[in-house]
Amino acid sequence: MSESIQGLKRSHTCGQLAKSNVGEQVTLMGWVHRRRDHGGVIFIDVRDREGITQVVFKPDQPDLMAKARRLKQEYVIAVEGVVDARPDEMVNPDLKTGEVEVRAQKLRILNEARTPPFVIEDEAQANEDLRFRYRYLDLRNQVLKENIIRRHHAAQAVRQYLNQKGFLEIETPMLVKRTPEGARDFLVPSRLNPGKFYALPQSPQLYKQILMIAGFDRYYQLPRCLRDEDLRADRQPEHTQIDIEMSFVEEDDIFDLAEGLMQHVFKATIGVEIETPFPRLTYAESLARYGTDKPDLRFGLEIREITPLVTESQSDLLKEAAHDGGAFAIVTGEGASISRKGIEQLELTARKAGAAGLAWGRIIDGKPSGILKYFTDRAIQELAELAGGSQALVLIVAGDRLRSLKALGQVRLELANVARMVTEGIYRFVWITEFPIFEWDEVENRWAPAHHMFSMPYEEDLGFLETEPGRVRGRVYDLVLNGVELGSGSIRNHLRDIQERVMKVIGLERQEAYRRFGFLLEAFEYGAPPHGGIALGFDRIVMLLSGRQTIRDVIAFPKTTSGASLMDDCPSEIDEADLKELHIKLDL
Ligand code: AMO
Repeated sequence: MSESIQGLKRSHTCGQLAKSNVGEQVTLMGWVHRRRDHGGVIFIDVRDREGITQVVFKPDQPDLMAKARRLKQEYVIAVEGVVDARPDEMVNPDLKTGEVEVRAQKLRILNEARTPPFVIEDEAQANEDLRFRYRYLDLRNQVLKENIIRRHHAAQAVRQYLNQKGFLEIETPMLVKRTPEGARDFLVPSRLNPGKFYALPQSPQLYKQILMIAGFDRYYQLPRCLRDEDLRADRQPEHTQIDIEMSFVEEDDIFDLAEGLMQHVFKATIGVEIETPFPRLTYAESLARYGTDKPDLRFGLEIREITPLVTESQSDLLKEAAHDGGAFAIVTGEGASISRKGIEQLELTARKAGAAGLAWGRIIDGKPSGILKYFTDRAIQELAELAGGSQALVLIVAGDRLRSLKALGQVRLELANVARMVTEGIYRFVWITEFPIFEWDEVENRWAPAHHMFSMPYEEDLGFLETEPGRVRGRVYDLVLNGVELGSGSIRNHLRDIQERVMKVIGLERQEAYRRFGFLLEAFEYGAPPHGGIALGFDRIVMLLSGRQTIRDVIAFPKTTSGASLMDDCPSEIDEADLKELHIKLDL
């Protein structure tokens, strides 16, 4: 029943026609978005990538009308006709093409379509599994489609900026040796080398460093990175980075470049001016003030240490807890009026984040309530001044320093949420610097690299490498936007002896280090320039550019939280014969 396209040429897209086209003969091709029968006149909204155009069928051509009546949602059609101005009262200001319509003269049905399993609209009500199963239908909705188009524009803006700064786009392999980036590797058996495996790259880290040793000076790539880790709203098993490496640089050079890049991408894709330079916070400061290394700076609510105020109070419970590390508080005038129920919610948040509890009280016109009744007058005055008004809410966590700060960091986010203090549409970037190089791995009972092991320690901390590894700060930085970690990088360790000392701390003895990274250590011996770089999470950038809450909305074919693709049913079992060829036996 379908007809061929033969001889027809599309003259315009469905997002193009305007008053200036009135009187022109045009041909549109696309999908039936909607059909409306209005007493003898049929309106068909035809949709393609660029938009929607209204086509009208009038009773003076009964054959054409009969054919139009057969059209159903998502049929693929070609229409030839003449552009008419819509009468004033019919103009649709919400539609790019809303001032005109096409009076149909010819209609071809290029393909029919089954009734879609859900209504194609911007925020489809259908359950997510169904939308994933029919991703191609969901991608027809305007919001998702525009996200994918925005992603394209963002990628072009990135390339344009970096090309103009003298960077070379160089591809690195997808089948690599296992690299230690912190997450689990996806492994690929080698048919030609029985019993051996490739890994899929978690990032091009080692290759980009080797490209610097090779002398390419400025490299970038938008690589797909694969990590077998637990998934969340901002994590997928495959993600895309803007991966950058530069020779003969220090932190400031990389910050300037990344700031300029962000400025260009935001301007080019959503027309937003970003102010530079971005503020900088050390890791230690960020933790002390915001309880996290990815602070959302769209609101204040800074954490204060109030150990002295607790020590002089009458609250034995708090005093005792503070003894184990300190007492910390969020003191706010702005969020002071939140309800008791809201505060219970915050208590739950604090407990979930590992605090023993959340002590709280209010100060209203100088009068304390709750836990604050046990505080001295001087303390109340100080807290009221911190809140800067006649009302204050004070939320306190005492105990182990790190745990208390992290718990308050979560409370801070929840409070901003409950008290509606987050303004949408603003972008607060911040650099977090001076990360520790190592962190203690409780499970393995050893020091592990906090980021990856290729970063340069601060020169003044080198002396602690063997004695107090936890004190060694690395020249490692993160870029954070509105509480989301956008990117990470470092000035690299290009000196072999320091590299070997770092590896020793994490328990990689010389022989083992050589077995795993011999190629890199060897390369360091042939004239490695000082170098550094950064990788920005491209999916996360497009997510924020698009005002979405999950990167699934900006990836054409994302995986579900269990790592599955419901559309093509993957991962899936493979045949016995295939396994045999790969010399693999399953042990399930
Ligand atoms: P890192 O592992 O911090 O650094 O990754 C860089 C950035 O990539 C994004 N990202 C992810 N996005 C979506 N899903 C994921 N599973 C995922 N994992 C990471 C984040 C993150 O900040 N080689 C180093 C970079 C370097 O040192 O130059 C690296 O990959 O936005």
